[in-house]
Amino acid sequence: MMKPRIKDYLNSDTALESISIQAWVRTRRDSKAFSFIELNDGSCLANIQVIVDATLASYEIIKNISTGAAVSVRGKLVESPGKGQRWEIQASHIELLGKAPEDFPLQKKRHSDEYLRTIAHLRPRTNKYGAIFRIRSSLSHAVHQFFQERDFRWIHTPIITGSDCEGAGELFRITTLDMENIPEENGKVDYQQDFFGKEAMLTVSGQLSVETFCQSLGNVYTFGPTFRAENSNTSRHISEFWMIEPEMAFADLQDDMALGEEMIRYLVKFTIDKCSDDLALFAKFVDKNLMRTLENIVDNDFIRLPYTEAIDILQKSNKDFEFEPAWGKDLQSEHERYLTEQHFKRPVILFDYPKDIKAFYMRQNDDNLTVAAMDILVPSIGEIIGGSQREERYDNLLKRIQEMGFREEDYWWYLDTRKYGTAPHAGFGLGFERLLMLLTGVSNIRDVIPFPRTPKHLEF
Ligand code: 4AD
Ligand code: MG
Repeated sequence: MMKPRIKDYLNSDTALESISIQAWVRTRRDSKAFSFIELNDGSCLANIQVIVDATLASYEIIKNISTGAAVSVRGKLVESPGKGQRWEIQASHIELLGKAPEDFPLQKKRHSDEYLRTIAHLRPRTNKYGAIFRIRSSLSHAVHQFFQERDFRWIHTPIITGSDCEGAGELFRITTLDMENIPEENGKVDYQQDFFGKEAMLTVSGQLSVETFCQSLGNVYTFGPTFRAENSNTSRHISEFWMIEPEMAFADLQDDMALGEEMIRYLVKFTIDKCSDDLALFAKFVDKNLMRTLENIVDNDFIRLPYTEAIDILQKSNKDFEFEPAWGKDLQSEHERYLTEQHFKRPVILFDYPKDIKAFYMRQNDDNLTVAAMDILVPSIGEIIGGSQREERYDNLLKRIQEMGFREEDYWWYLDTRKYGTAPHAGFGLGFERLLMLLTGVSNIRDVIPFPRTPKHLEF
């Protein structure tokens, strides 16, 4: 049986004669006859107050029980006369497990997010970061729950890959070659001598692998880490992030958009219902509009709009954009934010993008200009989902691979799925950290992942 934690005691129905708790000290206040210690063990946002009588034999160690220390307390759970909490602990014994000297960095209540990023190994001991990572855990569970309730199978797609799914060349290489003495053949790196006998990379997306399972198990998803060597230092990009990628067999772009919308609304509702204590912290201290934004997502249908019409709206907006919106160009985040925050004031699904700005695997539309792609854009963040119906016609897919200058032999297995019982299918990728930003109002993606990796930053 698991030992009860602070959360369990705070939710207790009755007073308890004999309990014990291990936790970290948040604060200590001393009066003549007592010390009041606020303890937190990470089980919930709230602390529990411990009263230590100065007459206790173990009281002599109280001066070492400072902010950050780990302690073990035995005592009684009694009704608290103070406001704001129902229960407190009257200690009969207190023991210091791990001291935290005066240089413990989290003495003050408030620190800047920038500073806390430099101590990412300690920041989950603050209220805000504790709350973020509890929500992150619950939300991961909710993602699986969403798919399992709908009979989607979780496929563990590989992290080491030999192909570039997005064709954007943003791959990190993996090698065991001696960097001081790289073997060459005809002036080029001889990858035959490398670990796999060929070039190997960290995956940018599990999509191509999960598509093959879609063509056998039907509805599937992958949820794992993905890696991008994009040199963009924005508040929405990190080099290692987690992505959720469902793939549905016998499905088209309409089905894809419907699934994306249903999933986002389900996860927002889950967070409102199941993480309310932690969420309240963000609504109070991080984004005063947070609950309105989230309820707006749950209560209203998303707008569905062809890319071409979106460009038209942007061009007619009379807004002074930094980048001129033009057909054939990718939307910038300022455009995405205009559509979601000012024009429609809710999430927008854009679809049918020009084929030249999208990946090779997207299904070509009959106009020969656009592909059956869709992006879901949300307020504050912009793109949160990118997906498409897949090109299931062998000849078209091969043509795209050739046009993009990819090596056909790298994609033989992917092409095989179009050779043997090819079927219409569609899927998307949801950036897990961007979803967490939406749910918490946190404005920098580095603050919703335990240890962020960005260009020139690899601490911890
Ligand atoms: O639009 P993207 O590049 O789509 C794909 O990778 C497809 N293979 C997905 C699929 O159809 N199965 O990425 C999908 C989402 C983006 O919408 C964004 O939310 C997130 O992944 N994302 C990032 N999140 C954080 N940092 C980055 N550098 C990201 N790049 C993409
Ligand atoms: Mg995208």
